[in-house]
Amino acid sequence: MNDKDLRVGSIKDGTVIDHIDAGSALKVVQILGIDENIEDIVSIAMNVPSAKTKTKDIVKVEDRELASDEVDKIALIAPEGTINIIRNYEVIEKNKVNLPKFIKEVVRCPNRNCISNTDEPIKSEFQVINKNPVKLRCVYCERAIEQNVSEHIK
Ligand code: CTP
Ligand code: ZN
Repeated sequence: MNDKDLRVGSIKDGTVIDHIDAGSALKVVQILGIDENIEDIVSIAMNVPSAKTKTKDIVKVEDRELASDEVDKIALIAPEGTINIIRNYEVIEKNKVNLPKFIKEVVRCPNRNCISNTDEPIKSEFQVINKNPVKLRCVYCERAIEQNVSEHIK
């Protein structure tokens, strides 16, 4: 990639989440729990021209190597996402996101009467029925989420 095309500078150390579907970067940031309380340096690029797809989003988190379970939740909204671990400017590891079999806490059950939506100390949990397109089923009430998963992310 030449500098002319580089919207956000290279990072020295950290994690680059690349090939996020255009428009989904802010959801990725939300899933990672990145908000006004964090101190890491975070760069978000949206609608960047891409060779493989027409456009993509990119999120770079400096000085933090994200845990794989953290990153796997990103597969809910970025099934083509790649996770690059950067050390001393080099990509030392590159992995595709991989949706785990169960998703805890990230998604809210659409069933208002579900026990995971009450005051009980129960965290939401969904079984992944299908990876692409993503289909989920609540382990408590069996309610399915078969489309627009991102609308159900807490
Ligand atoms: N990157 C970065 N800082 C670095 C090295 C890489 O921010 N020091 C970013 C690149 O800008 C790119 C991603 O990390 O968005 C992956 O880098 P690289 O593997 O070099 O790019 P590609 O070969 O284009 O990756 P892919 O094959 O996954 O498209
Ligand atoms: Zn439920």
